Amino acid sequence: MLGVFDSGFGGLTVLRPIHETLPELSTIYLGDNARAPYGVRPQEEIYRFTLEGVRFLFAQNCQLVILACNTASAQALRRIQQEILPAEYPGRRLLGVIRPAAEYLATHGSHVGIFATPATVESNAYTHELEKLNPNVEVTQVACPGLTDLIEAGRQTGENCNQLVKHFADELFLESPKTEEVLLGCTHYPLVQTLFEKQVPRGVPVVSQGEIVAGALKDYLERHPTLKTQLDWSGQHQYFTTNGPDISKLASLFYGNEIQFQKTTL
Ligand code: DGL
Repeated sequence: MLGVFDSGFGGLTVLRPIHETLPELSTIYLGDNARAPYGVRPQEEIYRFTLEGVRFLFAQNCQLVILACNTASAQALRRIQQEILPAEYPGRRLLGVIRPAAEYLATHGSHVGIFATPATVESNAYTHELEKLNPNVEVTQVACPGLTDLIEAGRQTGENCNQLVKHFADELFLESPKTEEVLLGCTHYPLVQTLFEKQVPRGVPVVSQGEIVAGALKDYLERHPTLKTQLDWSGQHQYFTTNGPDISKLASLFYGNEIQFQKTTL
């Protein structure tokens, strides 16, 4: 099984392209909706919550887990990989979403912009990755507090959301008018991608991570054939949330097809 984790609904924007790219790969999704958003929480809390989510997915027999959450990838991935995996889960793998997105950005223009949660921006994870991959790329990050809350509450079409997105887009282009491409560096933001597209200058592409991560996963599995054979390829999908099955309706809207969540506790 492949496990996919996010603080809430956002990871569905990564899961959907994974299902399209690898339709036979069985997946288990976990959204910690009850405790979202993570992006305004302290590092230690993000680490603890993420680890609980990862442990849950490993207990469901996931050999590979993707943190489909930039905040968790920025604040918890490395520590879990280094301190927990070798001691407690040898042979299991944990991947994040920042590295593949940074690889994409490294070859797309000399000035790039990133919208992300306050915790992702504060970690400078994107800046550090890009520095290693292509030091000639200039990165401008804008923290977007409040946006995940509106999306989690299903208020992504309201005027508040539009105003917030306008505010963040103005901030980015005021600070870096030469920005050539923009990444939505939070997996929740593709749910308001059209709002971002309306607010950035004409011709500036707004890119979300889902397809980039799905493509990177496919390549990764080709390079790790043993792991590939350990996964289940019967195309079964399960969805867990820490909130309650009543989120299924909103989640189905975001995912684009009917999905049913089961409640779990971490
Ligand atoms: N969707 C997550 C991310 O990619 C987290 C948003 C949040 O919980 O604040 O950063």
